[in-house]
Amino acid sequence: MKYRTMGKLGIEASAFGLGCMRFNGAASGDSVIDEAKAISLIRRAIDGGVTYLDTAYVYLSRTSEIVLGKALQDGYREKVTIATKMPSEAVHDRASMEALLSEELGKLQTDHIDFYLMHGINKEKWEYFKSIGAPQFFDDMKKAGKIRYKCFSFHGPYDEFEYILNDYDWDMVQIQYNFMDINNQAGTKGLELAGKKGIPVVIMEGLLGGRLSKAPSNVQALYDAFPVKRSPVEWAFRWLCNHPEVSVVLSGCNEESQIDDNLRIFDTVESGIMSEEELKLMDNVREAYISRTKIGCTGCRYCMPCPNGVNIPGIFSAWNNASLYDTDPRNDWNIRQIREKNHGADHCIGCGACEAACPQHLNIIESLQTAWQEMNG
Ligand SMILES: NC(=O)c1ccc[n+]([C@@H]2O[C@H](COP(=O)([O-])OP(=O)(O)OC[C@H]3O[C@@H](n4cnc5c(N)ncnc54)[C@H](OP(=O)(O)O)[C@@H]3O)[C@@H](O)[C@H]2O)c1
Repeated sequence: MKYRTMGKLGIEASAFGLGCMRFNGAASGDSVIDEAKAISLIRRAIDGGVTYLDTAYVYLSRTSEIVLGKALQDGYREKVTIATKMPSEAVHDRASMEALLSEELGKLQTDHIDFYLMHGINKEKWEYFKSIGAPQFFDDMKKAGKIRYKCFSFHGPYDEFEYILNDYDWDMVQIQYNFMDINNQAGTKGLELAGKKGIPVVIMEGLLGGRLSKAPSNVQALYDAFPVKRSPVEWAFRWLCNHPEVSVVLSGCNEESQIDDNLRIFDTVESGIMSEEELKLMDNVREAYISRTKIGCTGCRYCMPCPNGVNIPGIFSAWNNASLYDTDPRNDWNIRQIREKNHGADHCIGCGACEAACPQHLNIIESLQTAWQEMNG
């Protein structure tokens, strides 16, 4: 296992951090956890050199912290740092924040949390956290020794990331980043900004939740043609670790084989390790994925709100994602939500308000019908 220095904190962390959101192959919150298996996976990772564990109050129907707490008995707690999170939905004042932190410490069976994160924030959630005094609460808990580092995880556009990063004395930040997301969310600009400020960056969704682990045929052809043979997972992690600003790459694993594979990969990757040819390969791989795009919707939302409630950018985003990553759109969580909330293309009456507003001049009405048929057929 390679260890990396966490920016201005000066402490070392394993390059591979285990995410505790996906045991049993489950997405956050919708499955009963196989506790014995999860504990065995966690301990296998720690025995292999992992020192960074990431969980959250809400993961796996609020059971992830409990299982992690159990896994860290018998001397394992002392070997690792724990990151867990405060969701904005669960707190509304100082007393509820105190109660939540106390519950999390209890579930994790520990007297302190190393990295405490405001969970999945954007500008709106940050303003909410400020309005209920969360920054002061984090300062106080750090002084009291109940948390070691004040952090946030982020999902939103770059300008909001920059605003939040500069608005408080953060110790660490967690962002979604991978070779496909260089211009999405915080993106490369956000990674480099944090790096310049010395704020360590922890990466989530390095494999886009697993979507980058299996390459579609046109991408696999590029990997196959490269003189050095590596799996898509290894290429993705190697690309991430090439960035000096990256401290830890989280990955949620469901099987021992995935843990072992990742332990092997993170034994070989360091910043600045990739050659010009390898970087070019990854640029070509990105282009090969993008060439699979179904429709050039940029998600600007000028078409919204649709008078009939159709979630136009949501449908196009799911359609593109299914094509890019060769996944079954019928299993797509976003499409299930769109269907359940009656925001599907079957509610389109062809009024054309969207087409008049679209700056890309997309043929929205016809494309919606094609997309909906392909995703529900
Ligand atoms: N704070 C937030 O807002 C937030 C949001 C998302 C995630 N997170 C945290 O970040 C962690 C990492 O994100 P993530 O779980 O999405 O990471 P990820 O690495 O992008 O995806 C994990 C998935 O990749 C696949 N995988 C991992 N290693 C593999 C290997 N060696 N070979 C083949 N497939 C492999 C597995 O997919 P299969 O299931 O298909 O086998 C696994 O479930 C999470 O666990 C969570 O702790 C935080």
